Amino acid sequence: MKVLILNGNPKKDGFVAGCLDRLAAALASGGAETETVRLADGNIRDCIGCFQCLRSGECPLRDDVPGLIARMTAADGFVIGAPVRNGATTACYKRFLERITYLLGFSLALEDKYTLALSSVGFMGGRGACREHLGLQGPFHTRLSGVVFRAVGMPPKVTPADLAPELDRAARRLIADIASRRPRSAGARLSFAVDRFVVGRFMLRKQPDLYAYIIECWKRKGYL
Ligand SMILES: Cc1cc2nc3c(=O)[nH]c(=O)nc-3n(C[C@H](O)[C@H](O)[C@H](O)COP(=O)(O)O)c2cc1C
Repeated sequence: MKVLILNGNPKKDGFVAGCLDRLAAALASGGAETETVRLADGNIRDCIGCFQCLRSGECPLRDDVPGLIARMTAADGFVIGAPVRNGATTACYKRFLERITYLLGFSLALEDKYTLALSSVGFMGGRGACREHLGLQGPFHTRLSGVVFRAVGMPPKVTPADLAPELDRAARRLIADIASRRPRSAGARLSFAVDRFVVGRFMLRKQPDLYAYIIECWKRKGYL
């Protein structure tokens, strides 16, 4: 079982990094193979919105993203962590997310994988963005194993050690979800079906040339 841990915080040794280290240790002791990637260390360029990937399945930008996509495709699950900044997620993580939105999101390449989202906030805001973006919901539709979200004060007064029991539980749940292939909840199944209907009917079928690659992926899955 492979779990890819993505750290979307440019800050080294902060609260998020400490929690991700704890999760990595808990996952490893539960038998998972883990790899941690600090997105801020990579060469990740901004999506230029050319839509070429929708047609061809390939991005014209040359940087570290294709390698990360290959690692995400090979993983069974993800732990994704980033703090709240300006009521949303970090610029560093958002830049990466934009690059994979069509190639891994619209294509539904990650629909069978499980995600644990982790975020912290000084005082308030950003919980929805944490669930949606770090949990790879929205177009990605991964199966959400858990969300760990904590207000820590500014500068942080709460430490990763304070969250140890919650983090260990979340890691055990992620391992159990992946091992049992836990199905989506009824609500998540419904929302996935509605989303597929809307995207299929009002986007893909209306512009088959623009969405050629996505249509090919959906056909392979039997969704079109
Ligand atoms: C540029 C920046 C923007 C921030 N914006 C918010 C915010 O909108 N709301 C809030 O409560 N905390 C905000 N914070 C505080 C961070 O969420 C907090 O420091 C972080 O969760 C601690 O985790 P870390 O040590 O891993 O960075 C911000 C911090 C920075 C550096």
